[in-house]
Amino acid sequence: MKVNYLRVSVTDRCNLRCRYCLPPEGVKTVAHAEILRFEEIVRIVKAATRIGVRKVRLTGGEPLVRRNLSSLVAQLAAIEEIDDLALTTNGILLAEQAKELAAAGLRRVNVSLDTLDPQRYRFITRGGELTRVWEGIELALELGLEPVKLNVVVIKGFNEDELVRLASLSLERPLHVRFIELMPFGPVRAWFREAFLSAAAVRARLEEYFGPLVEVKKLYGAGPACYYRIPGAQGTVGFIAGMSGHICSRCNRLRLSATGMLHPCLFGRGEVDLKGPLRAGAGEEELVRLLAQAIALKRSRPSSLPEIDHLSRLGG
Ligand code: GTP
Ligand code: 5AD
Ligand code: SF4
Repeated sequence: MKVNYLRVSVTDRCNLRCRYCLPPEGVKTVAHAEILRFEEIVRIVKAATRIGVRKVRLTGGEPLVRRNLSSLVAQLAAIEEIDDLALTTNGILLAEQAKELAAAGLRRVNVSLDTLDPQRYRFITRGGELTRVWEGIELALELGLEPVKLNVVVIKGFNEDELVRLASLSLERPLHVRFIELMPFGPVRAWFREAFLSAAAVRARLEEYFGPLVEVKKLYGAGPACYYRIPGAQGTVGFIAGMSGHICSRCNRLRLSATGMLHPCLFGRGEVDLKGPLRAGAGEEELVRLLAQAIALKRSRPSSLPEIDHLSRLGG
């Protein structure tokens, strides 16, 4: 699969501490000087276009806690080769920033939303306010930051009784509700077995209620999700089978961490430092060479267990 998609983590910080992502005390954040500056990110993205990258997604931690993000968006939007510029956010700060981001050239947003119940939301995020997320989602629709995709991490015993209600969000609005398989990173390791529900099981439950789902071939954004439509719905439902789905063969992305490390894969295939060479004066040719090196690592043998402590370190 050709690599045409770069996920850029702009910060390791987050304003939430979701139970499937971070430990209760959070994680040690990195010193400001270790985080890539916007100008460095722009140089990397420009080099990445030379190896075929056409799509950039900004992630975190929570990308919207990075100050002045819209200025980075504007600089990336000005790169001609990039035809898809998107953001993955928990949505807490989206209502505050959506207008500015859209004006700067952001195309679309994916928003995490694991439950429709404010109390459950407060529980799973350790204190988040669901109404703020909804304000953000509504505004994103209004501003045309579309398609608007919602990311639901499926957790047995937490939101399995809401699957139909969550999928129903796609009926009346052009929302794309994606069910994501839980992955055994960090805090999840201790309770993964009890809490895992496969994408196939989720789909079966939805079909039991809605009848057969209709496969949708083309939806903007060539990520690992498979999409279906509930007959008559405006939006779609999608499944991201990270654990069961053998999605690696369709994987088209590289990840750039906030500290400037390129990760070819979530499952331990090594990493390539870009920040060191950049700060030592590497030019575009050298960056292109390092990017190609990361792509070569993608084809190497994976170590069997995920190497990372928590997914947010790599921007989800
Ligand atoms: P689109 O461009 O809209 O297709 O987005 P996307 O699915 O690539 O990005 P998003 O950040 O919304 O991804 C949602 C979640 O899917 C991530 O937070 C991960 O949990 C999961 N995910 C994304 N990419 C991968 C991947 O390469 N492997 C695995 N296992 N999971 C992934
Ligand atoms: N399993 C699955 N997805 C996870 N995310 C974070 N931790 C996990 C995990 N253990 C993903 C979710 C969230 C995004 C930011 O990161 O999709 O919405
Ligand atoms: Fe923050 Fe996203 Fe991790 Fe939740 S899943 S703690 S919102 S980075």
